[in-house]
Amino acid sequence: MRVAVFSARRYDREYLEAAGPQHELVFFEAHLDSDTARLADGFRAICVFVNDNVNADVIKRLAGHGTKLIALRSAGFNHVDLVAAEEAGITVCRVPAYSPYAVAEHTVALILALNRHIPRAHSRVREGNFSLDGLLGFDLHGKTVGLIGLGRIGALVAKILHGFGCRVLAADPYANADNYPDVEMKTAPELFAAADIVSLHCPLTPETHHVIDAQAIAAMKRGVMLVNTSRGGLVDTRAVVAALKTGHIGHLGLDVYEEEGDLFFDDLSDKIIADDVFARLLTFPNVLITGHQAFFTAEAMHAIAATTIANIDSFARGEPGGNEITADSVRGN
Ligand code: NAI
Repeated sequence: MRVAVFSARRYDREYLEAAGPQHELVFFEAHLDSDTARLADGFRAICVFVNDNVNADVIKRLAGHGTKLIALRSAGFNHVDLVAAEEAGITVCRVPAYSPYAVAEHTVALILALNRHIPRAHSRVREGNFSLDGLLGFDLHGKTVGLIGLGRIGALVAKILHGFGCRVLAADPYANADNYPDVEMKTAPELFAAADIVSLHCPLTPETHHVIDAQAIAAMKRGVMLVNTSRGGLVDTRAVVAALKTGHIGHLGLDVYEEEGDLFFDDLSDKIIADDVFARLLTFPNVLITGHQAFFTAEAMHAIAATTIANIDSFARGEPGGNEITADSVRGN
């Protein structure tokens, strides 16, 4: 099948071509949005990633020019208008799980690097500065960690942090507590009040948009560490900046950002960053940001490519492959 692959980088091409030599994959570096949708004209299938904006306008154009399948290279699908896709008769499928280990391990990497000031320590040592001032950390052992979302990734983070001797709480209205005997299930306000570290592992839905806002932050302990490796829209970034200024948030680790679509996955090192909120975040010594790389391990890339190609194969054969998502998924997920 001819497939237009959007937001394609060298590594996407490498893994997808290896997994799907039977398909004619045409790679576009551009994000898919209303301006670039014409690139997909005549392609029966398109393949997109997290910062492609598959809104109703784009879907109308796709449907009008013969597209029947949107294959997501991601688990999250908040960037796709599933209602519009359903109405247009376009199938949408995703990669429900590739390597939850990749994201869980990156989450813990952020926690450790923030706590022990690894980036600052590394820069100091490279400059011959061996002072320890400002590098004081805390033992993770005995600390309380609160997870918002206890699905595949959240459960793995819990498992890893239990290994450090942490007490783990979780707020997840849909999780079955019986499956996680070592995790204490709480409401979000209870969790905020008790946790030394709050980490987000739920999908972005209308219900979870800005789940971390000024009110939620005010309910947290002073000096709390906040980590978000899920989706930028879960966090009201302006409220977080305000709390960093007062010291209410003591550490912030982000792999995702509300407005990351204009920034992440590209080398902008010779450009001016026009986003003042993001630029402000970069000025804090206790903020660590990675550019949506939590998923980026060899194992995850292999699994994403294999499942994406399997999804395209099933569609080409006219058989549901089991990874289709419908408008109902928005409510169920
Ligand atoms: P999952 O579907 O296994 O788990 C999500 C959990 O969130 C479920 O247990 C669900 O019940 C829970 N949840 C739903 N609404 C909630 C709410 N209002 N409050 C609390 N919990 C709620 O998903 P998985 O695989 O664990 O992924 C979690 C998220 O991680 C994804 O939705 C995605 O946004 C993000 N992600 C980020 C990546 C990265 O590279 N930074 C890569 C992969 C996923």
